Amino acid sequence: MKAPIGVIDSGVGGLTVVREMIERLPKESIIYIGDDARCPYGPKSPEEVASYTVELAEALQHLGIKMLVIACNTATAAALPIVSEAFDFPIIGVIEPGSRAALQVSKNEKIVVLGTIGTVKSEAYNRAILRRSDGRAEVQALACPNFVPIVEAGEYDTPQAKEVVAETLSVLDSDTFDTAILGCTHYPLLEKQIRDYFPPSVEIISSAVETVKDVDRTLRAFGIQNKESGRTIRFYTTGERSEFEEIVEDWLPIERPVVEHINLQAVIRSKGRTLR
Ligand code: DGL
Repeated sequence: MKAPIGVIDSGVGGLTVVREMIERLPKESIIYIGDDARCPYGPKSPEEVASYTVELAEALQHLGIKMLVIACNTATAAALPIVSEAFDFPIIGVIEPGSRAALQVSKNEKIVVLGTIGTVKSEAYNRAILRRSDGRAEVQALACPNFVPIVEAGEYDTPQAKEVVAETLSVLDSDTFDTAILGCTHYPLLEKQIRDYFPPSVEIISSAVETVKDVDRTLRAFGIQNKESGRTIRFYTTGERSEFEEIVEDWLPIERPVVEHINLQAVIRSKGRTLR
């Protein structure tokens, strides 16, 4: 099936998942929407994040996607069951894959989750990890609200970023875990700084690779993989195009990416509401 896979995030974070999709699913077309106009989602209520997530999914439905990846932990925590209920196409999030990846590498099942305020408050990782480890794992979580603004500003590779990362993580005792989950899709852009801060014994997990394995499995299960050539990758932002474009260019192996502004309500209104 030639139709694209929809990918959403509050901003540029989901590009970390798109990067893996580009490499590991070379035939699949992608439509990405970053909701930069309303970023960050982290401090917002679960209800508000859920309503934004449904709106993004609805706009993508009108643009003709065959499946949706919620490449945002905050939105996955707040809205995965709601969105899955509302649409007919298959939908996956990033929290189950991230939890699975962490348990695969952790030797002592002591895991720290770095995430947004919303993700940490939801305790979605704690539940997923405890369920997968039959209650054995020890999970701690730290909200890092200063990370997303640095990434959105494109300042992830600066001395200030290093400072903010070190200051935020200084409350953790790295003897109490062997694995750290980057529980926000923006954080892999700060991976170097996070890696440099922790001792080498701490494994750092991004959910992107595991998420893409789930995308692949889902495409096969539904028999909707694309077998033809000539895939396309389109980027939309609800916010400023130029900053978004710079990060796409820096982060993805795409020359001259095209980023367009999108008005979600205009797309939805143009086709009429089609929610189940
Ligand atoms: N990238 C998102 C996440 O994975 C959201 C960050 C935010 O908007 O606060 O949680």
